Amino acid sequence: MGEAMQGFAYAICLLLSVLLNILLVGNILYGGDGEWRLRLPNGELKWSQDAAAAAEAVAALQCSGHGIAFLDGEIGDDGVTPVCECHTCYSGSDCSLLLPDCFADADSGDPLFLEPFWVQNAASSAVVVSGWHRMSYSFPDSSIFSQQLENHIRKVHAIARNAITDGKYIVFGVGSTQLCNAAVYALSLENSSSLSPAKVVAKIPFYPLYKMQTEYFETKNYEFEGDPSLLRNDTDAAGNVIEFVTSPNNPDGHLRAPVVGGPFARTIYDRAYYWPHFTAIPAAADEDLSIFTISKLTGHAGSRFGWAIVKDKSVYENMVAYIRTAELGISKETQLRALSLLKTVVQGDGRGIFNFSYEKMKNRWERLSQIISQSRRFTLQEISPNYCNFFEKIRGPSPAYAWVKCLREEETDCGAVLEAAKIIGRAGSMFSAEDRYVRLSLLKRDDDFEQLLARLRELVAIEDGAKTM
Ligand SMILES: Cc1ncc(COP(=O)(O)O)c(C=O)c1O
Repeated sequence: MGEAMQGFAYAICLLLSVLLNILLVGNILYGGDGEWRLRLPNGELKWSQDAAAAAEAVAALQCSGHGIAFLDGEIGDDGVTPVCECHTCYSGSDCSLLLPDCFADADSGDPLFLEPFWVQNAASSAVVVSGWHRMSYSFPDSSIFSQQLENHIRKVHAIARNAITDGKYIVFGVGSTQLCNAAVYALSLENSSSLSPAKVVAKIPFYPLYKMQTEYFETKNYEFEGDPSLLRNDTDAAGNVIEFVTSPNNPDGHLRAPVVGGPFARTIYDRAYYWPHFTAIPAAADEDLSIFTISKLTGHAGSRFGWAIVKDKSVYENMVAYIRTAELGISKETQLRALSLLKTVVQGDGRGIFNFSYEKMKNRWERLSQIISQSRRFTLQEISPNYCNFFEKIRGPSPAYAWVKCLREEETDCGAVLEAAKIIGRAGSMFSAEDRYVRLSLLKRDDDFEQLLARLRELVAIEDGAKTM
């Protein structure tokens, strides 16, 4: 009996000791706050201290809230402190001076509206890169793509409920820009028995890159045609066609479906803006080939990272072959950073970035619409409220761009009309549409957006017969 008791006591001790060890190891790996982070047992940093201190020192430079400093920016007279890079329309060493005659620059689609989200999430999104981080061309499994990152991409889509990734392949690219041509290349090989090159089409107004890139990289397998209406009904339409469908569309924010049908028509869905930030998500995309980009999801256009979700194995393999031939893979630093950003995106209930972005973009659209509603000279595109799979309710518009139309008959160059009022937009002809249209970016920083609203208010206020504000 005594021996049995002793054995029992040993067993209990062993069990307690195992439990204690699990708790200690768990604490080292994930910290005491339940966050999944690797931590040093004694919290003492050895070689990353200086780098971390420099990163925090540069972030601490306030630049009056109208500028920002970076570690790789210009250095001041002391030879160490980076200089503030002022937002457009601000100047001075601390960016506190507002330039009186400054143009509102609403040209580029730089999604800097997300900068404050990352400042709010500074701790979870920061990443330290050791001098020896993944120096190899490939990962240990010989892949050029990070499996961890792929897992997180699938997770983000599951949370946003904007794409089905189950049973599909994922290819990474240097931005979605590279994947657009990789997709054209891969799809053009699918019907290589055809004697004539595949015709690449996109409905007007369309994002200019499709034409520029397809023409630039044209091969004997594909050529750019333009609007699908240019296809001859009898032969081309039933033939070898690759259609870009941008949904929601850049520039007008409309959700789109393919125009071309037929057995040999193939579609590349450019889903750059298919996030709750910019559109209602009527249903999760379940397509043969969809392209997404971190540029418009997290705002990190400078990191140059995009991915394609591909159903067909041979299309996937040809896209990977394209990436290998063009670039021998994607920067491992970019993949590490993208992983760290997506880990932040999915933390908690994973809704944080979508709530932030939707509120910001919706508010911008409402304020802009309110000003333009006073005008008899300009209109904006109409976007109807729609059911959203993510918010599980009908929601209003929050597009990335305003597609402005000049209504006066004589004002055929709307870009010139806006430029005379110190507003820079992107001409309709850039999107193969009329210059009676101009695209205004709503994606930039608050300072840019406020300047845009100020200039528009002035323009509408001097309008003959404007409705009273
Ligand atoms: C519709 C569309 N597709 C692709 C891109 C390119 O994005 P990335 O930064 O991923 O190359 C953009 C950028 O503005 C875009 O508007």
